[in-house]
Amino acid sequence: VGFQTDCTTTGEDRRLYHGSVAPPIFAASLFTAPTWSEFEDAFASDPPQRFVYTRGLNPTCRALEAKLAILERTEECKFFGSGMAAISAVMLHCVRAGQHLVAPKGIYNHTYKLLTNYLPDLGIETTFVDMTNVGEVEAAIRPTTRLLYVESPANPTMQITDLAAIVEIGRRRGVCTAIDNSLATPFNQRPAELGIDFVIHTATKYLAGHSDVVAGAVAGSRDRIVPLITREHADLGGILGPFEAWLVLRGMRTLGLRMERHNQSALEICEFLRNHQRVEQVFHPSCLAMDEQQALYHRQMTGGSGLIGFKIRGGASDAERLVDGLSLFSIAVSWGGFESLALPMWETSPMPEERRRAIGLTEGFVRLSIGLEDVDDLIADLDQALARLP
Ligand SMILES: Cc1ncc(COP(=O)(O)O)c(C=O)c1O
Repeated sequence: VGFQTDCTTTGEDRRLYHGSVAPPIFAASLFTAPTWSEFEDAFASDPPQRFVYTRGLNPTCRALEAKLAILERTEECKFFGSGMAAISAVMLHCVRAGQHLVAPKGIYNHTYKLLTNYLPDLGIETTFVDMTNVGEVEAAIRPTTRLLYVESPANPTMQITDLAAIVEIGRRRGVCTAIDNSLATPFNQRPAELGIDFVIHTATKYLAGHSDVVAGAVAGSRDRIVPLITREHADLGGILGPFEAWLVLRGMRTLGLRMERHNQSALEICEFLRNHQRVEQVFHPSCLAMDEQQALYHRQMTGGSGLIGFKIRGGASDAERLVDGLSLFSIAVSWGGFESLALPMWETSPMPEERRRAIGLTEGFVRLSIGLEDVDDLIADLDQALARLP
């Protein structure tokens, strides 16, 4: 069936819930059994196959996990309390003290902080490379490398990585692969079909889509995800509660519809920005500078999503003035919701200045999250705010 059909009903068994069209929120920390012998079975396998305790399995969370596993074309999925809980679980699962991973130079702020501030204290080292150059990825691999970590498209540079090439290197060199697929969502890109081992999401963004919940997820083959469930999910305990799971599930019912709109509006806004004299450069998967990146975009993705970076001609104060002048875009962090957002990025990055500049993040860089409003209204708003710049 089509993507939006899977979003609406797949993964849910209404017979379990008296036919209720939406699953109930199982607000229970534990589940009882009528006899010990029935309960005893739960301890025969790890993770248990029956509902015992909500840190392990909860029926509301399970319905959500089944849906994302199907959308990502994977066998198994586990939700976490945030995108960062999911990312840190995968890193800690794959890489141990004395080992090493490879990650992109342009990467989400807190993933960067995890790799540079936290993991080194545990004896885990990272080499940051330009992932658009797969030769650099291969050259960075050491005998102790255990993970090739990708963010594609990357936030906020929108650069894309050749996932098939990363999988080929990982398999040949015996190294696991993981991707933060949050920007693309399974609507625009399905990395597991290309062989990526761990597909990670901040479900806070497009999956939930309504800016009312923080959540994360990891999907992959049963072989990959079950050990992650029994170790990092259960033992570190960064789980998603049933109420939050229900909100994400409700949001995901319209994922296909929303992504179609985000993709289309972003294309029109990129076109407007590219033709504007105050705009120096636009960053979006659909209009990346190099020809190979363009070809890769068409090969690997079916749409560019609604996150756009652009550099205005001018400095940090012009970027700030621009966002202050917008009325339909709110000034806020995060992205992927129904509402349009704008953020000057220079001040928000934890990276040293030299590294920020190297990935193209300069003073005039503004990030837009294109919401579900009418695109003509959004363009008119950008137009008037750009016109007011000195
Ligand atoms: C690309 C990307 N990955 C991961 C995260 C972290 O997700 P969460 O805020 O759900 O922990 C974010 C948050 O902005 C992000 O932009």
